Amino acid sequence: MSRIKFQTPTGMHDILPEEEKYYYFIAEKAKKIADFYGFGKIETPILEEQSLFEKSVGKETDIVGKEMYTLKTKGNDLLTLRPEGTAPVARSYIENGMYNLPQPVKLWYFAPFFRYERPQAGRYRQFWQVGFENIGEEGSIIDAQLIQILSNFLEELKIKNTIIEINSLGDKECRPTYKKKLSSYFKKRENSLCTDCKKRRKTNILRVLDCKQDKCQPIKTNAPQILDFLCVKCKNHFREVLEYLDEIELPYSLNSSLVRGLDYYTRTVFEIFATDKESNKLALGGGGRYDDLINMLGGREIPACGVSLGVERLIELMKKQNEIEEKNDAPVFLAQTGNLSKRKSLKIIEEFRKKRIKVAESLGRDSLRAQLNRADKLNIRYVLILGQKEALDNKIILRDMETGKQEELELDSLIKEIKKRLKK
Ligand code: HAM
Repeated sequence: MSRIKFQTPTGMHDILPEEEKYYYFIAEKAKKIADFYGFGKIETPILEEQSLFEKSVGKETDIVGKEMYTLKTKGNDLLTLRPEGTAPVARSYIENGMYNLPQPVKLWYFAPFFRYERPQAGRYRQFWQVGFENIGEEGSIIDAQLIQILSNFLEELKIKNTIIEINSLGDKECRPTYKKKLSSYFKKRENSLCTDCKKRRKTNILRVLDCKQDKCQPIKTNAPQILDFLCVKCKNHFREVLEYLDEIELPYSLNSSLVRGLDYYTRTVFEIFATDKESNKLALGGGGRYDDLINMLGGREIPACGVSLGVERLIELMKKQNEIEEKNDAPVFLAQTGNLSKRKSLKIIEEFRKKRIKVAESLGRDSLRAQLNRADKLNIRYVLILGQKEALDNKIILRDMETGKQEELELDSLIKEIKKRLKK
């Protein structure tokens, strides 16, 4: 008989309880931050029309060109497993007429995303993001506040050694002139570019600036810089964002090559990186302004700005920097020996549940020592021992692990007695 061995698909993984506690922790912290800053949670479907991402993220980007999981439904629709969250949120804003709500509309999400990328450390094909989108405000203060939220969030997670890089990509007024200038600069140096950049020069010129190949670095260094081509409005907007960041003393570093891998951005773009001792950089999150996106998707001209962070990458750092403590919140442990006491245990546990007192147990174990060891490991103060004799007499032993004191209680008044002790 052949044995079939099933595994998770490449680049995807199970989240087991040991790992799940990190996801839960991050989601809880995100919710607290979101509540404070007035963001409401949004859940969009995992599948969206393929063309939503083509129109927003851009056909010539790696995400749309190479990394999308798209399927044809029985009704011949082309649906894509969402590779990111901003376009679905923008689609939902339009579809649900959210411009009728008081602006800005602030939304956050904690959800899985899918990109068919080459798996490597910190890069998966299914990964989680936590994201914050602020739709309906064009002021530079919004950009700065999102960066502040990003920074506060990482502080809450106790993630250290991060650096925020920031740039402006201009808008539809000034960016085309810059792109033309860049195009002619790289055209003259085409032969020195790597194969990918030769293609990017024709399809998505800004991405040449993002190339990591050694061959392209010297040419990139001397390339025209976007900040020299910004129109007055974009220049002022960017200056103001930086002034706000200075005001709140949030350190940042200007990076004129920061272009992001998604086409919907206008003006401010930023990324946050974790750095290690060898100065390797890992992108934890990124975002920026996307003032044209809602309009591009068929909605009104509504400005917006957002950010999202990769949850697996945050977890990786949290594990390295500060293991979150295993918390046991059960104040009582029930140990049992013998058939009769085992039978009575289920009823006792139910009584505790009804009174909302958490009780830990190890019902599958028969040995008292093994059960006491477990209680000790969980650091539980009150241990109840129900032996055969006690079960017959309708009694139970209570051992206070802190004082070492042991006493016999009537089973009928057990909950009352425990409550008394827990109040102390
Ligand atoms: P992004 O830079 O493509 O932006 O992704 C944000 C973060 O998601 C990355 O910095 C990284 O931490 C994480 N991430 C991306 N791909 C993977 C992967 N394959 N495996 C693990 N983690 C990954 C966006 O998605 C934009 N929607 C951000 C945004 C929100 N812009 C405006 N609002």
